[in-house]
Amino acid sequence: METNISNDLSNVFHFFLNREYISIANAKGIYLYDDKGNEYIDASGGPILCNLGHGIDEMANVIGTQAKKLSYVHRIDFTNPPLEEAAKKVCKASDYAMEKVFFVSGGTEAVEIGVKIARKYHLDNGKPFKTRVISRWQSYHGSTAGALAWTGSTSRRSDFLPYLHDFTHIPPAYCYRCWFNKTPDTCNLECANALENEIMCLGPDNVSVFLAEPISGMSLCGVVPKKGYFERIREICDKFDVLLMFDEVMTGMGRTGKMFAYEHFDVVPDILALGKGLGGGYFPIGAVAVPGYIHKKIADNSGMFGAGHSWGGNPLGCAVVSKTIDYLYEHDLIAQCEKMGEYLDHKLQDLYSHPMVGNIRGKGLMRGIEFVENKKTKKTLDPKYAFSARLAAECLKRGMFIEYSGGCDRGQSGDMIMFGPPFIINETQIDKAIEILNQALGEDLLSHSSDVLTF
Ligand SMILES: Cc1ncc(COP(=O)(O)O)c(C=O)c1O
Repeated sequence: METNISNDLSNVFHFFLNREYISIANAKGIYLYDDKGNEYIDASGGPILCNLGHGIDEMANVIGTQAKKLSYVHRIDFTNPPLEEAAKKVCKASDYAMEKVFFVSGGTEAVEIGVKIARKYHLDNGKPFKTRVISRWQSYHGSTAGALAWTGSTSRRSDFLPYLHDFTHIPPAYCYRCWFNKTPDTCNLECANALENEIMCLGPDNVSVFLAEPISGMSLCGVVPKKGYFERIREICDKFDVLLMFDEVMTGMGRTGKMFAYEHFDVVPDILALGKGLGGGYFPIGAVAVPGYIHKKIADNSGMFGAGHSWGGNPLGCAVVSKTIDYLYEHDLIAQCEKMGEYLDHKLQDLYSHPMVGNIRGKGLMRGIEFVENKKTKKTLDPKYAFSARLAAECLKRGMFIEYSGGCDRGQSGDMIMFGPPFIINETQIDKAIEILNQALGEDLLSHSSDVLTF
């Protein structure tokens, strides 16, 4: 069923340099089609990005129409109508908790700009020494030197450590493998209190911002923190004048069944980074949104924020953002995401009967499964098997693409996959996806060491 393109015949510098790639020629709804017409369920919407579904004419048309009218103008010198409109729509989508928006070209840039906004805020507030960023182990915030330094996923950092500044990380809010050996009953939010300890050790006058994914992306595949965690984090940030920045590059724009994942908690961030679904799966765009008081501090003092990128605020991407938000509302897709997420979760519960399914978690259409060798001890599988990578490969053979990940046990081992399909998925399609996963799980994936490269 595969139409493979060998690396030897390709001029593309691929992620896996010695692997054959299937060439996807077109896509519609939740399906990808290769150049021979074979169909694959896009069970993760790419890297949890294609929120609206593939092949929507309206989305394609908005790009063509805008390109004919105005494809580019520089944000330092001009504004433009799609930029103004998209910023308004993002703020309205937050119910005006956010009042100003800075557009960039993707999630990594959004994280970088968000941290720079925090720095600028403190500079303009007369606190020039507040520069330290604290984030969490087993997080992912992007791939440039700054974002990777704040990232806590060890496998994604390791090759590039010599280029990363030395920022500190606190333990994740990961009840299934609590770093403090607590259970939900004995938990005293030690993982949140770790932030206060870290701020004290670095010196409160030196700490600028705490950066976290409200619900973990691929590095922990859908881990939702215990109730009260972010409320405690907010308290600590307020106590020490440390800004709270949420990386909602994956969770934003409806993915967790609410427009923004922070709505699941009684907390509003000072800085909100967006990407992926912001362009609906049609255009590379990201953004940083902030409440009015952050912007006002800079406006009333230096009056300039000298950061950004050439493509920031371009009319093409901004037109797609407005259309994406309209489309989400017009088709009631966030409610659909919540409903289908509950159905998916309900169906996934049956997988607990499988000897290696250790934990199922997530919200909305962002549902992760963690596999273990021993359910009781939670011992991870030996990485030599590359279990999750092989499981994903077996799914692909059967017509379903699913994202996999590893390193959930302190970066050294662990196997996970994550469902994150377009919000338009229906019950029959979910049933089919789970059937394929079950078939793949029926394969003997532990019979020999794997030469599959994983990360
Ligand atoms: C939570 C999170 N932050 C940041 C990023 C980086 O986004 P991008 O790959 O668009 O630069 C990602 C991408 O996977 C992500 O999941």
